[in-house]
Amino acid sequence: MRSNRHSRAHARRLFATLTACAAAAATFATSQAQAASVEVLHYWTSGGEAKSAQLLKQMLEQKGDTWVDFAVAGGGGGNAMTALKTRVVAGNPPAAAQIKGPAIKEWADQDVLLSIDDVAKAGNWDRLLPPEIASVMKYKGQYVGAPVNVHRVNWLWINADALKKVGAQPPATWDDFFKVADALKKAGITPVAIGGQPWQEAETFETVALGVGGAGFYKKAFVDLDQATLKGPTMIKALETFKRLKAYTDEGQVGRDWNMATAMVINGRAGMQFMGDWAKGEFTVAGKVPGKDYLCVAAPGTQKDFTFNVDSFVFFKVKTPGVEKGQKDMAGLLMSPAFQEAFNLNKGSIPVRQDLSLAKFDDCAKKSSADFKSAGASGGLVPSWAHDMLVSPAVEGAFYDVIGNYWVNKDETAEQAAGKLAVAAKTN
Ligand code: GAL
Repeated sequence: MRSNRHSRAHARRLFATLTACAAAAATFATSQAQAASVEVLHYWTSGGEAKSAQLLKQMLEQKGDTWVDFAVAGGGGGNAMTALKTRVVAGNPPAAAQIKGPAIKEWADQDVLLSIDDVAKAGNWDRLLPPEIASVMKYKGQYVGAPVNVHRVNWLWINADALKKVGAQPPATWDDFFKVADALKKAGITPVAIGGQPWQEAETFETVALGVGGAGFYKKAFVDLDQATLKGPTMIKALETFKRLKAYTDEGQVGRDWNMATAMVINGRAGMQFMGDWAKGEFTVAGKVPGKDYLCVAAPGTQKDFTFNVDSFVFFKVKTPGVEKGQKDMAGLLMSPAFQEAFNLNKGSIPVRQDLSLAKFDDCAKKSSADFKSAGASGGLVPSWAHDMLVSPAVEGAFYDVIGNYWVNKDETAEQAAGKLAVAAKTN
């Protein structure tokens, strides 16, 4: 028979064990309540993009939340948007999705987005964001989108050795451009790297149109969707200039991803690429140095202009309890100084919050920031229609079709393509 003293000691030990277990269970429960699982749809799958997305994952997990990766490959995001629609129609949206531009309001109209206005108010986003960007993130005055960056689209990336090899300077005008392209071709270097995908052709055309016609023309054509401008002489000249590029590209372009085209410039197989500055993320991952290995210059004729493309995330109302905490954590993180600096250093873009120092950023980023400000003041700041920042998805898709068909169809004239752009602008 155990003595009373032993029984009391045993009871004390048992109680202590049970209390410890209860405390551990409570802590686990609290941590689980605090830890939210956030499924994130994005299309950042290239080298530079994936590294940037990884940063977001790491920083969200440092907050104790779990990142569930829902990555859908395909530059420009077309595949990702298709996947998203399927999930939303099935009543099972991801907690967060990379959505930008007018599509934010289109989704908000469906009453499927979570308001993050409390996070935005706490973070003073109205004070930190340029008003034209803040307004894109709002629905009926409330924030439903969290912006992460400002990409510039109208860049021309040039392999420095290739340019030196032909003894040329970075082209400032389209006449200069074609002289450099001829010299590169003669030297056996593919002058222009491009991927034969609708969004890449559309983006290249968008940049040519800006360079040939200027910001005023660009706004009349693509913001106002003015019929006369869309089929007028300046548009025809822009389309002719765009088609002239074809002879300076290679046969292997069909279906090529944008980052594979960037790799051609990185390794010197091609001399130049028209691409947004997510391309810089690829040069960075390859250990290349701007000003030494490659040059970032405004595309010909667009030195005073800035075509902006702002990546952002929206947050869907989901049934699973507790996820909202992770969604709000992520929204706050996206606009935090630490994330804005680290992410944009890798992504090739510049921070969207305007109060950050660019001391750690390279000369391309510093130039982008200076041009963003000066273009904003001079009327040269224009939204990219090729990257979902301007027209409806229906009109954007119709423009993609017109430009893509014109690029591959040797017999189609610029006049015919211009007429089709005017019709496409009326798609709803
Ligand atoms: C853009 C997006 C960029 C980059 C690029 C290539 O639409 O805003 O962040 O991902 O596509 O995929």
